[in-house]
Amino acid sequence: MGTDRLPTGIPSVDRLLGGGLETDSVTEVYGEGGSGKTLFCLEVAHRVARENRWVFYIDTEGVSVDRLRSMAGDGLEKLLKRFLLSTPKDLDEQTAAVRTACSLAREGRRAVGLLVVDSATAYYRLSLSGPGEDDARQALSLEISDLVLTALRAHVPVLITNQVWRSLRDGHLEPLGGSFLNHAAKTILFFERLPGPRRRVVLMKHRDRPEGSAEFRITERGLESAGSG
Ligand code: GTP
Ligand code: MG
Repeated sequence: MGTDRLPTGIPSVDRLLGGGLETDSVTEVYGEGGSGKTLFCLEVAHRVARENRWVFYIDTEGVSVDRLRSMAGDGLEKLLKRFLLSTPKDLDEQTAAVRTACSLAREGRRAVGLLVVDSATAYYRLSLSGPGEDDARQALSLEISDLVLTALRAHVPVLITNQVWRSLRDGHLEPLGGSFLNHAAKTILFFERLPGPRRRVVLMKHRDRPEGSAEFRITERGLESAGSG
C-alpha cells in the first residue's frame, strides 16, 4: 500500500479501498440520482470534522446542512465549526469556490482533513450543448487540475461527485467529464441503487486495489455496511 488513507467509516467500503480514501489524490463517486453520493460525502465529512479537522465543502445542491443534522444530532453546532461551507450558484461561482478552497488548503494554516465538491459536474452539465460549452469544459479542467495538485501537494484527500449519462450504444451509465476526469481521479467509485435502502459501490479504478464491490445501507443516522460487508 503506497499512500495514507482516510477511513470513510463504512467498514465494507474501507475494505474495498484498502483502508479508505487516498490522502494525496482525487476520489470520484458517480452514479444516478438517489444513489447516495451526497450522503457518502457527508458521512466522510462528518467523521473528519468530528475529529477536529477542517472540511472544505463545496455544495452545489444546497442540502448539506439538513442531511448533516440528521447524522450529527446534538453535535451539529460543534461540527459546523469545522466546516468551511460554500454554496456556489453557477459555474463561475463554483470555479471561484474551488480556487479559494485549494489555495487555503495549500497555504496550510488550518489542518484540513477533506475537500469535497458535490457535485463537480451539475453546473457543467447545464452548460453542455449551449454557447458556453467550451468555456465550461475549460473551467472544469482547470478546477480538476487545481484539485489534483492540492491533494498531491497538501496531502488533502479530495472527494468529488459526478453525474451520469446513459450510453446509447450499450445502455451503460457513464460518468460525465470524459477522459480528462477519468484520468485525473485516481480512485473511481460507481454507486448503484439496489432495492430499498441498499446501495452497491463498485470500484471502477484504483492505483493499487483490485476491482471489486461492496454494499452499504442508508439509515436515519447515516450509512452502514450491508450485504457480506
Ligand atoms: P443526486 O444528487 O440527485 O445525484 O443524488 P445522490 O446520489 O447524491 O443521492 P443522495 O445521497 O442524496 O441519496 C438520497 C437517497 O437517500 C434517496 O434515495 C433517499 O430516499 C435516501 N435517504 C435519505 N435519507 C434517508 C434516511 O434517513 N433513511 C433512508 N432509508 N433513506 C434515506
Ligand atoms: Mg447529491
